[in-house]
Amino acid sequence: MEPLMASSRFVFFLSPILLLISSQSLAQPEFPSHDCFNEKGNYTTGSTYQTNLNTLLSSLSSPSNNGNGYGFYNSSFGENADQVHAIALCRGDVMADTCRGCLSNSTKKLTQVCPNQKEAIGFYDECMLRYANRSIYGAMEKDPVFPLWWNIHNLSSSDVDGFFQEMRKLLKDLSGQAAANGSLRKFAVGNKNAPNFQPIYGLAQCTPDLAEQACSECLDAAMGEITAYCERKQGCRVQNPSCTVRYEVNRFYDPTTVVPLPSPPPPLSSPLPPSTSTGGSKSRRSRTVIIIVVPIIVSVVLIVIFFCICLRVRRTKKKLETKKLLPSSDDTDEIGSAESLQFDLATIRDSTDDFSEANKLGQGGFGSVYRGRLLNGEDIAVKRLATNSVQGDLEFKNEVLLVAKLQHRNLVRLLGFCLEGSERLLVYEFVPNASLDHIIFDPTKRAHLDWVRRYKIIVGTARGLLYLHEDSRLRIIHRDLKASNILIDAEMNPKISDFGMARLFVLDQTQGNTSRIVGTYGYMAPEYAMCGHFSVKSDVYSFGVLVLEIVSGQKNSGFQHGENAEDLLSFAWRSWRDGTASNLIDPTLNTGSRTEIMRCIHIGLLCVQENVADRPTMASVILMTNSYSLTLPVPSQPAFYLHSSIGSDMPLRSEYNSDRSKSNPVKVMEYETFTEPHPR
Ligand SMILES: *[C@@H]1O[C@H](CO)[C@@H](O)[C@H](O)[C@H]1NC(C)=O
Ligand SMILES: *[C@@H]1O[C@H](CO)[C@@H](O)[C@H](O)[C@H]1NC(C)=O
Ligand SMILES: *[C@@H]1O[C@H](CO)[C@@H](O)[C@H](O)[C@H]1NC(C)=O
Ligand SMILES: *[C@@H]1O[C@H](CO)[C@@H](O)[C@H](O)[C@H]1NC(C)=O
Ligand SMILES: *[C@@H]1O[C@H](CO)[C@@H](O)[C@H](O)[C@H]1NC(C)=O
Ligand SMILES: *[C@@H]1O[C@H](CO)[C@@H](O)[C@H](O)[C@H]1NC(C)=O
Repeated sequence: MEPLMASSRFVFFLSPILLLISSQSLAQPEFPSHDCFNEKGNYTTGSTYQTNLNTLLSSLSSPSNNGNGYGFYNSSFGENADQVHAIALCRGDVMADTCRGCLSNSTKKLTQVCPNQKEAIGFYDECMLRYANRSIYGAMEKDPVFPLWWNIHNLSSSDVDGFFQEMRKLLKDLSGQAAANGSLRKFAVGNKNAPNFQPIYGLAQCTPDLAEQACSECLDAAMGEITAYCERKQGCRVQNPSCTVRYEVNRFYDPTTVVPLPSPPPPLSSPLPPSTSTGGSKSRRSRTVIIIVVPIIVSVVLIVIFFCICLRVRRTKKKLETKKLLPSSDDTDEIGSAESLQFDLATIRDSTDDFSEANKLGQGGFGSVYRGRLLNGEDIAVKRLATNSVQGDLEFKNEVLLVAKLQHRNLVRLLGFCLEGSERLLVYEFVPNASLDHIIFDPTKRAHLDWVRRYKIIVGTARGLLYLHEDSRLRIIHRDLKASNILIDAEMNPKISDFGMARLFVLDQTQGNTSRIVGTYGYMAPEYAMCGHFSVKSDVYSFGVLVLEIVSGQKNSGFQHGENAEDLLSFAWRSWRDGTASNLIDPTLNTGSRTEIMRCIHIGLLCVQENVADRPTMASVILMTNSYSLTLPVPSQPAFYLHSSIGSDMPLRSEYNSDRSKSNPVKVMEYETFTEPHPR
């Protein structure tokens, strides 16, 4: 150890830059998964942030740093805006040396793959490393999710149900144990046999900075993703920044190294500033670290000061540019960024064969949709807006810019727009399969949509909607969620389309003198259909209708059960009340967990409650699907304002007199709270 340090010290004195270059030229294995969080901001090369980050990372992986003694590392370095926070965690059964080796690889690799990002996360099999410019210690973060098929072989289909059932039981049990284990190591491993005696090995682990409750919640959420991502696989792991669940048919952990925690626990050691140590050899090492670290800091700081002076002018410029990305309608410079999303009409005409009938995919509420292929081979879908919008060009561009920023795996991506003469076009990513209505309401196609797929569609749609409602910075209310607005991609993932149309299609939301109802009969919440009041809860209502449709394979409007024509909601409610809810289940769904199906019916009914306050938010819906231990409220009779005689799924547009809306303070509040966070 000592000779190595001495030589490193020599290199450090020679040139910190040489060190950066030389450490980066060593090849570390690729991360099976990582994320650079591009949207969370970048630092410039040579900035104080970078220096702090490098110092922090080298201290994390330094041999003198033992973390909390059980593979967990937490530290921060720097001041104010340049402060960097890092957390690292090794798999609970990994030995100290392997753990350190893994961290050493991660610290080098992560700055390589995310060269200028302020926040990043990388996972190896044995360890996880993340850093950020915000405090991340003690915060439970279940997004983003990093699923990984550790074993791509499929289980044979006759065994899947039994295997998954036992696997869930195992992981649930391990989750409980891991959450309850002490504050040093929240980790549990174990095994169980599937009904065909196939052994299943499982693991659950949280970063130990989480409290028991937060750890449980995180593991529950990760388990919820297993259904969606691990379909039939023999081995799979789902991770997020705060926890991991994993199962395999082979034993992937070393049970002999999982030693019980001793009592009393060893003292926590925080790496920066180097802690005063107890052991003699340890304190010598700490001194070495001080001797090494101090000169690096000094020399790097000198260099950085020099760079800072040079870069100051540039950085101020950068700041202004960043500001421009913030929504602000009269900032004409914003259009500069919009230009990059702008397609010219000739390109679009070529790609769609001049909007030929053959390329027409459908007709939506806002115009026709065409399929196209760009010269680079990329497939697109082009929405040709009916041109009766009163929105100005500038506003249109601003809105496109905002909506294009909404990116989520369960949303169809807006790639750009075209604005020429009276043409207004929106260019979207092309989603290969049909929309959900073409599958779920088609008697033959429906039979291929087994419960696992339907459940994945329900959960994915819920996630997309949650993102629109709460996680995106715009807080969008969809207002026209329905089966035909859910597109299904090649992996059968749902993607919500047509969101943000209310913004792109100017609906005079802030004027208060006219307002338009955009929506579809059968999916519209009663308060919206009748009074024009909308909120996130009107989307929740539409979502509830959609869930019941997916479970039953029947349209809400034009629902048939035996001889009786009545609407789906009435039938669902009656069956639920009479304890015959299984009558609602699509007869082609002969596999799949009954409990899961019944739970979805229950959730669907809660979403269509007449009283807006009784409907759950999308965040609660996700929680309900994730956590089976959560007891759901009992639904009461849903709203029946429409019956199949007048039901139709034609898009509805109607003007309504605003006098009513003016006298209704609730409505105005909803507009302000949910759709216009940046009044323009
Ligand atoms: C982190 O950096 C981003 C982008 O530069 C900035 O917007 C954010 O405020 C920073 N967060 C903290 C806690 O400093
Ligand atoms: C940060 O840099 C990456 C490319 O290195 C870029 O894609 C991303 O948009 C940048 N993020 C911000 C917020 O500027
Ligand atoms: C972890 O780091 C945070 C931020 O620096 C600090 O507040 C906290 O005390 C640290 N916790 C431990 C156990 O070291
Ligand atoms: C770290 O990377 C080296 C190759 O540079 C590799 O041999 C070693 O196994 C890696 N260690 C861990 C724990 O991943
Ligand atoms: C597993 O099944 C999926 C579809 O069910 C199939 O696409 C994939 O190729 C299969 N994988 C293997 C390794 O057999
Ligand atoms: C976690 O707790 C369970 C029982 O609650 C115990 O059997 C197991 O050994 C503990 N695991 C660790 C790694 O401490």
